Amino acid sequence: MELATTSPSQTKMPERFTIRRFIPRQVRRWGRGWLMARDLADGLTWPRSPRDYMGQGTSPTDPEPPGGLERYYDANMEGPGIWKWRQYFELYRRHLEKFVGRSPHLLEVGIYSGGSLGMWRDYFGPGSQIYGLDIEPSTRCYEGPDTRIFIGDQGDRGFWERFRREVPTLDIAIDDGGHAPHQQRITLEEILPHLRPGGVFICEDIHGDTNQFGAYAAGLVQNLNAMAARTHPDGVQAGVVSDATPFQEAIHSIHFYPFALVIEKNASPVKSLVAAKHGTSWQPFGMEPKGVGTATSLRPTEG
Ligand SMILES: C[S@@+](CC[C@H](N)C(=O)[O-])C[C@H]1O[C@@H](n2cnc3c(N)ncnc32)[C@H](O)[C@@H]1O
Repeated sequence: MELATTSPSQTKMPERFTIRRFIPRQVRRWGRGWLMARDLADGLTWPRSPRDYMGQGTSPTDPEPPGGLERYYDANMEGPGIWKWRQYFELYRRHLEKFVGRSPHLLEVGIYSGGSLGMWRDYFGPGSQIYGLDIEPSTRCYEGPDTRIFIGDQGDRGFWERFRREVPTLDIAIDDGGHAPHQQRITLEEILPHLRPGGVFICEDIHGDTNQFGAYAAGLVQNLNAMAARTHPDGVQAGVVSDATPFQEAIHSIHFYPFALVIEKNASPVKSLVAAKHGTSWQPFGMEPKGVGTATSLRPTEG
């Protein structure tokens, strides 16, 4: 390139160093931003292994209380093995802390070396009931006080029917089993309706950006947005009400994390979703949902 200097040592320098000073600073700044955006889009700067997640998740300024799950995991360097992605400990705390000391009934699909069953028992405290399910008969050895083991295939709907007959009460279900999309879907469909009000369902290890279970779970989100609006019975000024669908009645929220899905159930059935108007001073143009009764979005009324 014409910008190379006469010195042989300089001609060997990477081109970007030799042409850099001829590019206006403003343009250089823009270029740096573009390169960062491109790298992000390519995933070049994204974490790639469990080690890359070390230290992320729970904030160092917000330490876990004694007895926290992450501490238990970190201290568990001997004995029955636990195998979890580091980033899960933040979501465990966010969604499961409310059960601590309240004797929850928890199912974990996927026992492997049994360490996680002990971790749940320790975290939730005395009175909690732990159920472990695995396809490997050798995992029966982890049966113990307050811990019951089931041997079966999570992809078999007949198994789940028998399981529900034997375990009528369940607050938390964690799927850390075979990780195949069809197993994950069957487990969700068979167990989510069985969780008590306020229950939490977690599916772990949803790997890959074309994962079929991930796409199925993302599709469930639209059920939260279903709307059949009508004018609030207290009159137009009072706003809008939408009768809850059976899905909205039961499901509080759906959360996505790297490789994990969390679904929370409502603590009590939600019969309607209400957008009440508070205040006395309103603009003259209307903001009622278009075609109240069938509307799907809030927008200014026309005409
Ligand atoms: C990732 S390991 C579980 C790790 C464990 N929960 C922990 O935290 O250390 C997966 C387990 O799922 C079990 N598994 C595989 N396919 C299964 C299936 N179809 N039904 C039930 N369990 C299955 C395996 O035998 C294995 O023990």
